[in-house]
Amino acid sequence: MNETLERWGSRRAFILAVTGAAVGLGNIWRFPYMTGENGGGAFLLLYIVFVLLLGLPVMMAEIMIGRAGRRSPSQSLAVLARQAGSSEHWRWLGLFGAVTVFCILSFYSVVSGWSIEYLIAAINGNFVDQGPGEVGAFFDGFLADPLRMTFNHTLFLLMTMTVVAAGVSKGLERLNNLMMPLLYLLLVVLAIYAATTDGFAPALNWLFTPDLSAISVGVVLNAMGHAFFTLAVGACALMAYGAYMPDHQSLPRAAGAVAVLDVLVALLAGIAIFSVVFAQGIDPAEGPGLMFVTLPIVFAELPWGSLWLGLFFLLLLLATWTSSINLAEPMVAGLQGLGLRRSRATALIAVSIWLVGILSVLSFSHLEAVHIVAGMNFFELVSSVPSETFLPIGGLLIAVFAAWVVPRETALRALDAGPTGFRLWQGVVRWVSIPLTALVLLSGLI
Ligand code: TRP
Repeated sequence: MNETLERWGSRRAFILAVTGAAVGLGNIWRFPYMTGENGGGAFLLLYIVFVLLLGLPVMMAEIMIGRAGRRSPSQSLAVLARQAGSSEHWRWLGLFGAVTVFCILSFYSVVSGWSIEYLIAAINGNFVDQGPGEVGAFFDGFLADPLRMTFNHTLFLLMTMTVVAAGVSKGLERLNNLMMPLLYLLLVVLAIYAATTDGFAPALNWLFTPDLSAISVGVVLNAMGHAFFTLAVGACALMAYGAYMPDHQSLPRAAGAVAVLDVLVALLAGIAIFSVVFAQGIDPAEGPGLMFVTLPIVFAELPWGSLWLGLFFLLLLLATWTSSINLAEPMVAGLQGLGLRRSRATALIAVSIWLVGILSVLSFSHLEAVHIVAGMNFFELVSSVPSETFLPIGGLLIAVFAAWVVPRETALRALDAGPTGFRLWQGVVRWVSIPLTALVLLSGLI
């Protein structure tokens, strides 16, 4: 149970690593389709409120615990609990987080594999001059082909696990430095292009004029779950990254930067995607396929469309890569904490995720109509329940631990924001984040 000596190379590297974890399918794929299914502007408004009041403070809590403990999530929790004279059962929170990231990674890898398919199709010029009908047919044809999907899922998982096996801080740093600026640039180009289309005004209207009557308990729950998902908070995954955070760096400032960068990507992607939705008369509530049937259409209209589209899917792939590395890290760090070698731990996780991922692959063909609970097939289940309930529950417990259990001096030092910054953070977590999360979760139960 010794402290880890691994560290991110610089402050910038830490911010990029956490941004890499945060920015991924959640922003570019999940955010637009959730917004479409949950009433547009009302969902966006709730999501931003939850990012500020829950996601951000709990993100600081999570990273703070990792930084103070400097071990795998379970061990950090146990060490800090012991220091505070509290029960070591807090270590189970690490296991709960591992179960959550396991579920998420099993479908995340499958959906990231879709980007590989689209990257290849774009380079081949498959989408040139195609309308909504043809692009939709391409997507459906792909989903109905479990072998192709399995191939891509396997490839993506191998990419992820290769970096994880080598230790995340080295591999990730180089990848992030290059990818992040390019991704923003491309999204800005896309949003500017969207501004010249007919769909732009209705898209802005749909996103930024909240229809408050669209808010239901379900919408609130979804928005809360998504705030946690998109910031990568609630599963002790950022705790694992916090363990490698350098000593002199203000945590609130770093976390704030990440949240801004993360929301920005979602907004840019949303503007681009909904402009096509409204220009082409596509249903905003189309579901998980929304991004995959809209973006090829926008790009096809641009000069050198195939090139842009290929570049976009390449960057999306890189963004999801850095996120899935983060999803895998707490499981691998956890097994390592139990004494396994890093390479063994990685292999074990890779094989298990691969197998469970196959169930998600088949949910679009053979198992499509096999409903596990509440009319949901395997993919629908695993892509909603862990994000919408496990993450908030995990986030709630992390917040309670950070703001009520961790000794003041330890937390103050690990947060590195001075006494006033500490008091502000603690007050928000204690009196806003914790009660609000509990309230929303309870209302979901009832
Ligand atoms: N935030 C990532 C995304 O938006 C997904 C993710 C990465 C995540 N690490 C996580 C979600 C940890 C929950 C917990 O795509």
